[in-house]
Amino acid sequence: MNDLDYMRLALELAERGRGWTNPNPMVGAVIVKDGRVIGEGYHHRCGGLHAEREAFAACTESPAGATLYVTLEPCCHHGRQPPCTEAILEAGISRVVVGSWDPNPLVAGKGLSFLRAHGVEVETGVLQEACDALNDVFFHYIRTKRPYVVMKYAMTLDGKIATRTGASQWITGESARERVHQDRHRYAAVMAGVGTVLADDPLLTCRMEGGRNPVRVICDTHLRTPLDSQIVRTAREVPTILACTDGARRAPYEAAGCRVFVLPERDGHVDLSVLMERLGAAEIDSVLLEGGGTLNWAALESGIVQRVQAYIAPKLFGGKDAKSPVAGLGVELPAQAVKLKNTTVTQIGEDFLLEGEVDTDVHGNR
Ligand SMILES: NC(=O)c1ccc[n+]([C@@H]2O[C@H](COP(=O)([O-])OP(=O)(O)OC[C@H]3O[C@@H](n4cnc5c(N)ncnc54)[C@H](OP(=O)(O)O)[C@@H]3O)[C@@H](O)[C@H]2O)c1
Repeated sequence: MNDLDYMRLALELAERGRGWTNPNPMVGAVIVKDGRVIGEGYHHRCGGLHAEREAFAACTESPAGATLYVTLEPCCHHGRQPPCTEAILEAGISRVVVGSWDPNPLVAGKGLSFLRAHGVEVETGVLQEACDALNDVFFHYIRTKRPYVVMKYAMTLDGKIATRTGASQWITGESARERVHQDRHRYAAVMAGVGTVLADDPLLTCRMEGGRNPVRVICDTHLRTPLDSQIVRTAREVPTILACTDGARRAPYEAAGCRVFVLPERDGHVDLSVLMERLGAAEIDSVLLEGGGTLNWAALESGIVQRVQAYIAPKLFGGKDAKSPVAGLGVELPAQAVKLKNTTVTQIGEDFLLEGEVDTDVHGNR
């Protein structure tokens, strides 16, 4: 085994924290001495031990003189946990191999300089691309203090998200729908517009075994969400935020367990940019946007979307009045299109998932 193999193992360990560490990063660590793995660890959940300390605690022999492989630069500041750089020195580690740099301004290279200054050999950038990709949410959140937004929709091959009668269950097959539940576990919140609540009365919970429910966020300018909707009726069990512009009618929603955010208005609706600031301040680092076409367009237009996931079912609905995933006014010219980069296509059961990052060089925040 070489550096790349051990870092791959650290990445696999980090993955185990997916869905539980937010708003912290996923991190994995492996300690190797004389060609043997003597300790493994990962960050289990926010507030818990960091991966490095987990690995030290799991060591089967003294880590003095060993190499530590860690997917993210070790922290050197007091946060929810004491600095890992101190634990590394105390353990007598002689070499540290790192995947990603920590963009947190409190860390940013300082951890590595500190280790070098204390005689530890440090190597950086090993499997950096994979390590960076693991924490796209964390990197975005720590830099912007706003959630990483993934716009997700399921459509037919002719671009419809419902039939002409508005029926939309189901467009994709079971495997694709399972994948969506994994993402509801992975991202901190799920967001939809009141139009989707009125049309489908969804629960928006995570039905993955052992999964965690995301916070539900409903964009509802005038508080039209029915009090007997599934969302409101389950608000005591599943955290729920209603975003509106006038809180005069908030009392019955709050009595039912919902949190009501009263926000400024923009173009006649909730201001999505301010909503993202409020969610970020509430430590919501990521949002899976599962809106209808109206909210999807507004979200794209206001520049809050980082990633688009289109589940495409190999079937056709037809119908000039059947809805499409992105509505609103739309752009005037093809050159003004929202463009994606780093796109991938994955077959999931009978369906296809086409996803990519919104090219922010072209589309910044409005
Ligand atoms: N296949 C899929 O992936 C999928 C996913 C979701 C929905 N759907 C389908 O989509 C249809 C519903 O579409 P929809 O467009 O009405 O739903 P939507 O986009 O979820 O909700 C639209 C409503 O959100 C509210 N809203 C609050 N803030 C907004 C803002 N800043 N910008 C825009 N809207 C804002 C608006 O009403 P107020 O201003 O009054 O609050 C607006 O009418 C249903 O047929 C549903 O089945 C399909």
